[in-house]
Amino acid sequence: MPKTKHDGQPRVAITIMAAGKGTRLKSKHPKVLHEVGGKPLLAHVIAAATKVVPANDVYAIIGHEADRVRAAVANTGVGFVLQSEQRGTGHALMVARQALAPYDVVIVLSGDAPLITAETIEKLRDFHSSKKAAMTLLSARLDKPTGYGRILRKGAGSDDVQAIVEQKNLSPAQQKIEEINAGFYAFDTQPLFSHIDKLNSDNHHGEFYLTDMAAILRKAKQRVVAVQASNPHEVLGGNTRADLAEIDHHMRLAKCRQLMTEGVTILFPETCVIDSDVEVGPDTVIEPFVQLRGNTRIGSDTRIGSYSVIINCEIKDQALVQTGCVLEHSTIKDRASMGPYSHLRPGCEICEDAHVGNFVELKKSRLGKGSKANHLSYLGDAEIGEKVNVGAGTITCNYDGVNKHKTIIEDGVFVGSDSILIAPIRIGKGAYIAAATCVTEDVPPDSLALGRARQVVKEGWAKEKREKAKAQKAK
Ligand code: UD1
Ligand code: CA
Repeated sequence: MPKTKHDGQPRVAITIMAAGKGTRLKSKHPKVLHEVGGKPLLAHVIAAATKVVPANDVYAIIGHEADRVRAAVANTGVGFVLQSEQRGTGHALMVARQALAPYDVVIVLSGDAPLITAETIEKLRDFHSSKKAAMTLLSARLDKPTGYGRILRKGAGSDDVQAIVEQKNLSPAQQKIEEINAGFYAFDTQPLFSHIDKLNSDNHHGEFYLTDMAAILRKAKQRVVAVQASNPHEVLGGNTRADLAEIDHHMRLAKCRQLMTEGVTILFPETCVIDSDVEVGPDTVIEPFVQLRGNTRIGSDTRIGSYSVIINCEIKDQALVQTGCVLEHSTIKDRASMGPYSHLRPGCEICEDAHVGNFVELKKSRLGKGSKANHLSYLGDAEIGEKVNVGAGTITCNYDGVNKHKTIIEDGVFVGSDSILIAPIRIGKGAYIAAATCVTEDVPPDSLALGRARQVVKEGWAKEKREKAKAQKAK
């Protein structure tokens, strides 16, 4: 039932056709779950739709792998209609009749055309109501119209449409038509549902084509009009892998442009891969070949070095991520510095002014304010306090083959190079670990732990060895 108030305005629903298999992708995954800009095709279309009407007036028509599709977008709050057998776009609307009939107007979107914007959906809606049409379709002029249905207008410059002709049915003369059917429509529900049963499946694919509604409604003396999208890229549909790559490219360039408008510097934006939901603050600099993925959020005045891949991280202000860092599901606070070549596995927190350097890997660890782990270390399940120095080559042995154990290093500790910390272990505040110590027992605060074999020096040993070798050769 429609939940939108009826205050003289038409009640508008949006339905998204997303039941198809996507045969042309040659994939075991449903088409609308293929990703562009870092999230599923369908999630983009839903995001645009829910900017125009409330989520409970949006209905996704699902079918192929319906459970997977539903689960992937359930958090958006939209409704679902099940089209268990996919017999064409017209059939999809027949199946959705019960959900949509209570509305005055239904806007139909394609789950595989994710560049559509709320502005264009609104333009379609407003054009539809201003022309008092029964059906309005969104069109576009494409240089390469092959594959799309073409629009036959009543005459040049006329708003009115005679018919939509699918690619397979085009006559040689019609193949030259550059104006394509974008696959987005507005219908008055009353004429749509009183004539939809006239659709038939006498065509190349044996499917019920929604596009045939144009000719059917015309025959019934109803008005059918077309409005052109101002940006033809917006209507691109992802039928093939090549289409998906092109859509992804457009989406990511648009994302870079948006961030630049908001004050972010991006060097060679065409080399950066930034997902749609990423946020970046002003005066942050993103160097070439950076990937920012998932729901990564970056503050202002931060710098992200080339070849860094950052997934679902929060990076605060004035931080520095140098070349080649791989950072996942972690937080990096103000003025912290990473890299070059640091690796944060999920669950890390790098606090203010801390430093993580070359070839240092952390997992589920916290590095306190002003602490440093600058070279060649593995720190796993470690809780490290403030102003701690973790020397080069320090390793936490956090895993005994069965369980993971914690290493706790309190404030102000100095861990000498090449130390091995066998967890569970606690190193008390201000303690000192001599280089190359294997720490197996807790170290009390302010003490020194020294655990290595005593050095033996044999004076003259090397010289003697060399002389012996020389004498042997001379023999
Ligand atoms: C459709 C249009 C074509 C238009 C193009 C724009 C038809 C017959 N043709 O062709 O004129 O130029 O879009 O991109 O409509 N779907 C269902 N149930 C079904 C069949 C399809 O939900 O039974 C969904 C698909 O998952 C897809 C959308 O409808 O998201 C469009 O279907 P698709 O097969 O991609 O249509 P096109 O061949 O692209
Ligand atoms: Ca399509």
